[in-house]
Parts: sequence; structure tokens; C-alpha cells
Amino acid sequence: MPKYKNVLVIGSRGLLGTAVTRVLSDRRYRLILPENEDMDVTDQEQVLEFLRHHWPDLIVNCSGVTDIEENEDEKDIWPELVNRYGPLVLAGFCTDLGIPLVHFSSSFVFDGEKSGPYTEDDPPSPVNRYGLFKAEADEAVLSECPRALVVRTSCLFGPGRTNYASLVARKAQVGEPIEAPPDVVVSATYTFDLAEVTADLIESGATGLYHVVNAGSVSYYDLAARVLELVGLEGELVPVPAEIFRKAKTPLNLVLSTAKIERDFGVAMRHWDEALQEYVRDYLHSDILLSDDITEAEAAGE
Ligand SMILES: NC(=O)c1ccc[n+]([C@@H]2O[C@H](COP(=O)([O-])OP(=O)(O)OC[C@H]3O[C@@H](n4cnc5c(N)ncnc54)[C@H](OP(=O)(O)O)[C@@H]3O)[C@@H](O)[C@H]2O)c1
Repeated sequence: MPKYKNVLVIGSRGLLGTAVTRVLSDRRYRLILPENEDMDVTDQEQVLEFLRHHWPDLIVNCSGVTDIEENEDEKDIWPELVNRYGPLVLAGFCTDLGIPLVHFSSSFVFDGEKSGPYTEDDPPSPVNRYGLFKAEADEAVLSECPRALVVRTSCLFGPGRTNYASLVARKAQVGEPIEAPPDVVVSATYTFDLAEVTADLIESGATGLYHVVNAGSVSYYDLAARVLELVGLEGELVPVPAEIFRKAKTPLNLVLSTAKIERDFGVAMRHWDEALQEYVRDYLHSDILLSDDITEAEAAGE
């Protein structure tokens, strides 16, 4: 029996939202999946109107603007509204209604100076505007909403939207050079693994802050090389340092520790490479490599 009757998933057509929606629907949850124009998290009035109409008993917020450069543009207030203000609006309503809020955050809240994986106890120290908005949203959501669960993750790959792994495959296929920094190390994470653990956490009634990523760590360069190997394409892999890869400052260490979910819930995440093999086998070949629409490589998010 599903634990909740009416689950509102915001951003359900995004990279993570695609997996969250599929996992919750497989677990027989009744889902409310609004179009952005019907439920814009930056529009307080509209959110209230929507909630009054649908009365969800759980909100899962998969919305976000994950393009780091877009967040960096000070003249564009949209990323700040979605990443920082939107979660606060949702936290306020969830508190008033007494319902749980699940919100997602990022390893970009850290400066990357630490030598090992970041834990939930490490204080945020963002070095770019995306990281700042995410860190401020985490703090606001956790302090405003007693039933909030904030799940931090890193470098997602999965079906539904362009991501770093799919971008590498597409670029190799159309013969474009693939820029990859060897000096930036991430916790590459499969959206379905993250969605399954998030659903388990929801069903356990977890609240507070948890890091959820696949095991192991890898540089963008080695990740790109492994994608090329798995899809069987040559690809022109160009090693570029972090400061060339992005105009916005990129933390060199984006690796998260999962010791807390292991300790509190006995969750053991599988290695990113095993998960990547599954993604390539089940989705990347058919979604990207067999697709006709391969000439335009969209920008991947973080
Ligand atoms: N991607 C990563 O590697 C990564 C890593 C760590 C953390 N995260 C976090 O995971 C969450 C989901 O990211 P993602 O990669 O799935 O992003 P995504 O693929 O860009 O999806 C974001 C979704 O949010 C929707 N959205 C944007 N603005 C909205 C608004 N004002 N109101 C309602 N919905 C709105 C988007 O709609 P459209 O369909 O119109 O675009 C899209 O469906 C974010 O909190 C992000 O910070 C992502």
C-alpha cells in the first residue's frame, strides 16, 4: 500500500523528475504531474491555487535551473527565483498544510577544497551563484519545514534529458570535440538509483539532510572516456582544466559521502560504473545513438 495518497511531483519532465515519476508510479503512488504553466514554483498565488485544488499529501520538488552559466548571469533573475525562492514557497505551504516536502540539492554547495568526500556535517561554502542558491534553499527549507527531506546529489545521468554522459555520446557521434576536465572529480549518479533510494527514504519517513550518490568517484575526463568505451565510439576527447570548461568557478571536488544513509538506513549504493553500464545498455543506445535527432547537442545541466 502506498504511504501517501496524492503525490505532487514538480519538474516531472526533467532529468531527475523522469526517474522519480517512474519509480513512484511503479510503486503505485497516485501522482499529480502539473505542466509548468499550471504550477510555476516562483508564483506563490498560483502554487496556492493549485494546492487548494489538488490537496497533495506529499510534494516532491524536482524543479530547478541546473545550467551553471545561466545561474551566473546576474541580470537574469529567473535561476535565482526557481532555485532559491521556489523551494522556500513550497516549504511554507508544506509547513502550513503539515505535509512532507522532498527537495533536491547539489554538491555545488561546497567549494571543492576538501580532500575527501563531503558529509552532511560539512558547512556549505559555495563558489558560484548556482551553489549559493542551492545552499540558501537547503537552509531555508530545512529551517522552515519540520517535515522536509533534502537530498543532495551530484552529476546525474539517466534518460529523459541531456546530461553529461548523453552529451559525450552525442558529440562523439556527430564528430564534435568533447571537452572534459581531468581536474574535476564527481560522484556520478544514476537518476533511477537516486529515485529508488529517495522513495525508500520517503517511505521510512526520513527528514533532514541526506547525501545520495552512487559509490566511487570519477573525473569528468575519465567519465567521458568510459562513456565512449561503453557506447563503442572513438570521440575526440579534449582534456581542459576546470576554468576553461566553464566560465563560472567549478569546485574541483564534487564528491559526496553516503555514510549517513548507510548508517541510518543501511543503504549501500552500487558503484557508478555498474549503474552507467545499465544506463548505456537500457537507454543511451536507443535514446541517443539510434535517434535521428543527433545534430543539435543541447547544453547539459550541472
Ligand atoms: N542534473 C544534475 O546533475 C544534478 C546534480 C545535483 C543536483 N541536481 C538537482 O536535482 C534537481 C533536478 O535537476 P534536473 O537535473 O532534473 O533538472 P532538469 O532536467 O533541468 O529539470 C528541471 C525541471 O524543472 C522544471 N522547472 C523549471 N522551472 C520551473 C518552475 N518555475 N516551476 C516549475 N517547474 C520548473 C523544468 O521544466 P522544463 O521542462 O520547462 O525545463 C524541468 O522539468 C534540481 O534541484 C537540481 O539542482 C541535479
